Amino acid sequence: MTNILFVCLGNICRSPMAEFVMKDIVRKAGRGADFHIESAGTSNEEYGNPVHSGTRNKLAKVGISVAGKTARCMQRMDYRKYDYIIAMEQRNIAGIKRICGEDTQGKVYRLLDFTNRPGDISDPWYTGNFDATYRDVLAGCEAFWRYLQKRH
Ligand code: 4NP
Repeated sequence: MTNILFVCLGNICRSPMAEFVMKDIVRKAGRGADFHIESAGTSNEEYGNPVHSGTRNKLAKVGISVAGKTARCMQRMDYRKYDYIIAMEQRNIAGIKRICGEDTQGKVYRLLDFTNRPGDISDPWYTGNFDATYRDVLAGCEAFWRYLQKRH
């Protein structure tokens, strides 16, 4: 079993989008049983809240449900629990370090760094543009999946 945690700030927009897009990719590849995939935020601000309607509606249009997901904050023990900790933006990496300490085992990555256009995922909290976020998240997850397939 390979354990993957996607991380953003609030765990209501970007990282849940990545979580459910990745679950869809892995399930369609017939590898659902081999990967445990979750998401969390570096902030506790949105704790217990459902996925933002922008993410929920965008994913519904492409046939992906986010039912049952509520926001949670990343905890120190998550560093041990997960094999890959995938941040949406550079700022999240600072948040992950604050919670978990240094990335001594090299588990922390930024999602778009798996693609040929490294950078931060477009943040819909400020832009309201969930289509742009989805485009980034899909490109990142597909590239991450190609990376994982070579290793697992
Ligand atoms: P997320 O979006 O980190 O992608 O879930 C945000 C959610 C909440 C806030 C910012 C971004 N906020 O400032 O409360």
